[in-house]
Amino acid sequence: MNSLLKYALIFLLALGLGVATVTIFAPGISVPWRQLTGGASIDEQTVDNRLHTVPGYGVVLFADDVPNARWIAITRRGDLLVSQPKRGQVTLLEADADGDGHSDGQRVLIDHLKRPHGLFLYEDWLYIAESDGVGRVPFDHSDGLVAGRYQKIVSGLADSGNHWTKTIAMGPDGWIYLSSGSSCNVCIEDNPRRATIMRFRPDGSDLQVYASGLRNSVGFDWSPKDGALYATDNGRDWLGDNFPPCELNRIERGAFYGWPYANGNRVPDPDFGVNAGEDIEEKIANSRPPVFSFPAHNAPLGITFLRSQAQPATYRDAALVALHGSWNRSTKDGYKVVSLHWDEHGAIHQRDFLWGFLSADRQTVYGRPVDIAEDTEGHIYVSDDYAGAIYRVTPGESGDSEAGAHKPRLQAPTKPLAIDRGAAQRGAELYQRHHCARCHAAQVPLRNLARRYTLQTLADYFDAPTPPMPDYDFGPSQKRALAHYLMSREVDTPKLVAPPPAPHN
Ligand code: HEC
Repeated sequence: MNSLLKYALIFLLALGLGVATVTIFAPGISVPWRQLTGGASIDEQTVDNRLHTVPGYGVVLFADDVPNARWIAITRRGDLLVSQPKRGQVTLLEADADGDGHSDGQRVLIDHLKRPHGLFLYEDWLYIAESDGVGRVPFDHSDGLVAGRYQKIVSGLADSGNHWTKTIAMGPDGWIYLSSGSSCNVCIEDNPRRATIMRFRPDGSDLQVYASGLRNSVGFDWSPKDGALYATDNGRDWLGDNFPPCELNRIERGAFYGWPYANGNRVPDPDFGVNAGEDIEEKIANSRPPVFSFPAHNAPLGITFLRSQAQPATYRDAALVALHGSWNRSTKDGYKVVSLHWDEHGAIHQRDFLWGFLSADRQTVYGRPVDIAEDTEGHIYVSDDYAGAIYRVTPGESGDSEAGAHKPRLQAPTKPLAIDRGAAQRGAELYQRHHCARCHAAQVPLRNLARRYTLQTLADYFDAPTPPMPDYDFGPSQKRALAHYLMSREVDTPKLVAPPPAPHN
């Protein structure tokens, strides 16, 4: 028997579950396949017994009834919006206001969407990437309800074949970035928008291909250090257990990243890159190699740079990557969240961050991580489309010394803030005039500053801001005005204790 087919059968027997049956075409063979598509569930005991995170963090099961949970966005009130493509819906999970570690309740926010995947909040809009386009709907952060009509602003995106998920995010430059995977495992696409990252304006205009040769870059994010765009990419199948690597690419405008002609570090693809002629050789030579390689078939999906000051120093500025886990490797691999750390030479190092989704003998799967989102208090949420769950990983919850050292930052200020309304008004004008919202509306929300700063230390922040936050060279009264304005926004914001709105939908 073809060894591939044999693995497939062993895999099927070992699995013994799976909901959707799809047909996947490998070169030369066709296997009716049960994918690891989820439908399983997980309970608190399994999370307590199986899942592990690094010292200084604790993990809890935040919500356990979110089948096919994929992408996560966090509202200003701390609620989670989670896409469920296979249900065609986005669900709102209420923030944990009572502090028991679990979402306080959930309801469907929008349904009847076409396989919604990527989503993010920008100003008072919720943007959603369906498989064939992008839509947006006014969203009221205070009551967690949609506040208007859903408008499709990008349409006609191809969603046939494999890799139909679309991911979207707002870049620091004010463009919305959109990734669209290949239609196949490996092939020459006739649609130039497949296997790319594109971008467009917030109103949906000016859609353009930004980078190409990316087989399936499901996750991407901008480094808070240098503003560069990093995207994960899943390597092709059927070249063995250990090749090609999955990739982390540093995405630059107009650059070509190799697929389908080359894999990994410009290694010509046996089907499309070997003896393929001078043109292709040149394409390969000019393609960008990955800046980091994950083991083959690990399937990196979401990537999120940690930004909250609540993270211990080692993790501030690190990126977390969800490794969804292999589906066609003879021994399962991946199935965890890893952290990536940049050293002083720019080299990237991977460490395990959250693991235990796969049993030690690599036979039993408990979950498959997909996306990661961090709220302003440093809570890290991880979605799992296999168990249909959201986990919450929190710094300072395991009594270790590193966590203890930064705990005071998480405590409320002892003195009430004396906001000077006049100064706050002048600060609001400065905020407008310098377009601070360009970065601070969606990319780097300024929240819970009062937990970490006093009026004085916030004013002082502008003396030496951390790049890419610009240094504006403000004078003392301007710094004071901005500090009073930013703090006033927090004091005036309704607290998390608002009663939950009536169910919608
Ligand atoms: C080009 C994008 C950009 C613009 C424009 C920008 N910022 Fe920032 N700002 C950032 C980033 C990124 C950070 C986070 C830096 C870090 O600590 O890693 C930041 C951090 C901050 C912080 C500290 C936040 C915290 O949680 O500790 C404050 C306060 C702040 N910015 C205020 C402002 C104000 C006020 C303006 C306008 C006058 C402004 N920023 C304009 C990108 C920007």
